[in-house]
Amino acid sequence: MFGIIKNKSTYTTKVKRVLILSGAGISAESGISTFREADGLWENHRIKDVCTAGCLDTNKDATHAFYNARRKDIADKKPNYAHQLIVELKQKYPENIAVLTQNVDDLFEKAGMNSDEIVHLHGFLKELTCRDCEEVFDAGYQAQDKFAKSCPTCSGELRPNIVFFGEVAPMYAHLTKELQECDLVVVIGTSGNVLDVTYFAQFVKESILNNLEPSNAIDDSYFSKVYYAKATEVIAEIAEYIEEFIEN
Ligand code: APR
Repeated sequence: MFGIIKNKSTYTTKVKRVLILSGAGISAESGISTFREADGLWENHRIKDVCTAGCLDTNKDATHAFYNARRKDIADKKPNYAHQLIVELKQKYPENIAVLTQNVDDLFEKAGMNSDEIVHLHGFLKELTCRDCEEVFDAGYQAQDKFAKSCPTCSGELRPNIVFFGEVAPMYAHLTKELQECDLVVVIGTSGNVLDVTYFAQFVKESILNNLEPSNAIDDSYFSKVYYAKATEVIAEIAEYIEEFIEN
């Protein structure tokens, strides 16, 4: 009879979880091209030529040239206010917030994010990996050949550490886990052509969407809040909402 009285400390309150998922749009104001907008990367290059499983075998030189150019392009790019506020939020609420990005640039890191505070779902431009031993190397902003002609560990063939269409994306395991745990999903700067963010909004209790304009691949009626504006113009309001959501 007396055994049913529990110490108060055995009752725990669930920590509120927020998933911030970004795409190319968050880096657009820093001068990095998006993929599917007018003059975007996929308007000037064909996915099947430089970003599809197998193109390292059938179209190796052009594929390396494409990623060498992307790596060089991000060297002088600077994070914007949206990256900065998200880094601040993550560091203020490390247990509550997960930051996942489809972007392969390093603008969150340049804004002060530590590598263990962010998940790059589609890889990371500054990294090369060995097709044989799978070791990952930091090549900085160098062209692949400048970094090394072959794997420094096993002499195997190096490749950009980028997930190509048709390849497995190992980091999606984090996305699945975070979606199951999260109470609020915040989607910034993605057209939803690769990740079905409409489904995420249906799956999670509350959701925020910020893009420049509506996308054919997103049904925004499922989102609790929608902002069609530049990320830097609305990020302060979104950040304030996230803080209140976590605190209350
Ligand atoms: N602020 C907010 N959103 C913006 C801004 C901005 N300043 N500029 C553009 N956008 C939005 C556009 O409205 C568009 O919806 O960013 C989105 C960019 O969409 P995509 O170019 O399709 O980029 P993304 O969704 O990140 O692509 C997903 O596709 O090719 C792959 O691997 C690549 O990770 C990439 C994935």
